[in-house]
Amino acid sequence: MELVFATQNRNKAAEIQRLMPEGIEILTLQDIDCNDDIPETAPTLEGNAQIKARWIAEKYKVNCFADDTGLEVEALNGEPGVLSARYAGEARSDEANMNKVLGLLNESTNRKARFRTAICLILDNEEHLFEGIVTGEIRPEKAGDSGFGYDPIFEPEQIGKTFAEMTMDQKNERSHRARAFQKMISYLSN
Ligand code: IMP
Repeated sequence: MELVFATQNRNKAAEIQRLMPEGIEILTLQDIDCNDDIPETAPTLEGNAQIKARWIAEKYKVNCFADDTGLEVEALNGEPGVLSARYAGEARSDEANMNKVLGLLNESTNRKARFRTAICLILDNEEHLFEGIVTGEIRPEKAGDSGFGYDPIFEPEQIGKTFAEMTMDQKNERSHRARAFQKMISYLSN
C-alpha cells in the first residue's frame, strides 16, 4: 500500500519509512506532484493536521497522513502552540521565536512546557488521530546547537540536557514526534 505523508521534506519521510511495517511505501507531496500551499488556519494542532490530510485525501484520492507540532508553555497559557513556527512573526526565525518565549517568561518560576505532535491519518476515507507528548521545562538560557526550532531552550524531564544538546538519535528516542508516529505505526501494524 502507498501512503502519502503530507510533507515536502524527504528526510522526514525517509525517517518514517524505516519504521513502517513491511508492505507500506511512504510517498511525499513531491511524489504526487503536489506543490499546494495548504492553509494551516485551525486553532488546534489536530485541526491543522486534519486540514492538511483532508486536502490531500480529497484532492488526490489517496491514503495519507499529516502532522502538526507545537511547543506549549504552561505559564503562557499553552502558547506558542499552533503559532510555534511564526510566534515572533512571518520570518519564522528560530532565534526570534526562542527570544520571545524567554522574554515573556522572564523570571517566571513556572517553566513547565511540553512539545505535542498531532497526526491525522486518513485510511480508506476514515480518519484516525494520534498524539505524542514530551514534557519538560524551558531553560532560562539557550544551550546546545543541534536540532532545530525551540530545541536549545527545551529540556525534557529527567534528562539534564536540552534537545539541542542531544544527538539526533537520543532526541528521536523520546521525542513528541517519535511517540506520535509510534502510535500510528502500531495501529498500521495491527
Ligand atoms: P511542524 O508542525 O513540524 O512544522 O512544527 C511547527 C514548529 O514547531 C516548527 O517550526 C518549530 O518551531 C517547532 N517545532 C516542531 N518540532 C520541534 C522540535 O522537535 N524541536 C523544536 N521545535 C520544534
